[in-house]
Amino acid sequence: MSKPKIRKAVFPAAGLGTRFLPATKAIPKEMLPVVDKPIIQYGVEEAIAAGCEQIIIVTGRGKTVIEDHFDISVELESQLESRGKTDLLAMARHISNLGRVAYIRQKEAMGLGHAVLMARDLVGDEPFAVILPDDVIDAPTPCLKQMIEVFEDVQCSILATQVVEGPGISAYGVIDGQPLESNPRVLEVRGLVEKPKPAAAPSKNAIIGRYILTPRIFELLEKTPLGAGGELQLTDGIKALLEHERVCGYSFEGTRYDAGDKLGFLKATVEFALQREDLGEAFRQWLHDLPALSN
Ligand code: UTP
Repeated sequence: MSKPKIRKAVFPAAGLGTRFLPATKAIPKEMLPVVDKPIIQYGVEEAIAAGCEQIIIVTGRGKTVIEDHFDISVELESQLESRGKTDLLAMARHISNLGRVAYIRQKEAMGLGHAVLMARDLVGDEPFAVILPDDVIDAPTPCLKQMIEVFEDVQCSILATQVVEGPGISAYGVIDGQPLESNPRVLEVRGLVEKPKPAAAPSKNAIIGRYILTPRIFELLEKTPLGAGGELQLTDGIKALLEHERVCGYSFEGTRYDAGDKLGFLKATVEFALQREDLGEAFRQWLHDLPALSN
C-alpha cells in the first residue's frame, strides 16, 4: 500500500482574537497585515509550498473578509489591468490562485479542538495538517514542509515545538519526550502537560501552531470533554491520541512569531520589513536613527 500524503491543511480562524482588541472588534485577527500581507496568507503560502492541495479555513461570524481575500476581485483586477499595473495585478491573481480553498463555519468559538473537529467531513479519513494562522514562521524551508518530510519517515502525528526558556513556558502545552537517535530534532512523545507552572514543566519543548494529525483525532475529539475555559482543547484530544498511537514532536528550523499577541506581532513586522528588498534598507536606517533607541 502506498504511504498516505498530507494533501489538506486546516486553518482554525474562528477565534475571537481578544488579545488584539480593539483592532479585532470588526476585523478578523487573521487579516491583520504583517507589513502588507494578512497573517493568514503567510500560513496558506506555507501550506502550498509544502505541497498541500486543499486549504480548509474554519471561520466564524465576522470573518467573511477572509473568504473575499482568497477570492477573485473582479473590480480590482479590471482596474489594475486598465491602468497597466501589471505587478499589482499579478499579486492579486497570485492570491486568488493559491490552491483550492474550502470554508466551514464554527458557529461558536468553543475552542481549538472544536474548530479542528468542524473540518472532519472535509478532511475525511486521511492524515492532515493544522496551521494556526497567528503563528507566523520565518524559515529557510517552510516549517510544514520540514514536518511533512519527518512524517514520511515516522508515519504518525507530529507536533511542532520550540524551546521556551524561563517562566514563558507556562503559556504552552509542553512535551515530555525522548529525542530519536536517528534524528535528535524528533521527539518520541511520552506525555503532554498543558500550561505547566515553570517548575512542573517536563521540558522546555513547547508546542506551537503547526500539527500533522492522523484522522483518529476526530473520533477522539468527539468524545473529549470540555476542558480549560469550558472549551474543547486540541491538546486534550492529542493526549487521548497518545493512548492509541505514536505521536512525535519536531523541533523545526526557523523562527516563529506569535502574531496573535501584540509584542509578537510587532517583532514579526520589524523582522519581515527588514528582510524586504523594497523597504529593508530605508527601514533599517530609520530604526538606527530613532532617538528613542539611542537613549
Ligand atoms: P487563540 O488561542 O489565539 O485564540 O487561537 P483567539 O480566541 O483567536 O485569540 P485570543 O486569545 O482571544 O486573543 C489560535 C487559533 O485558533 C483559532 C483562532 O482563530 C486562532 O487562529 N480558534 C480558536 C478557532 O478557530 N476557534 C476557537 O474556538 C478558538
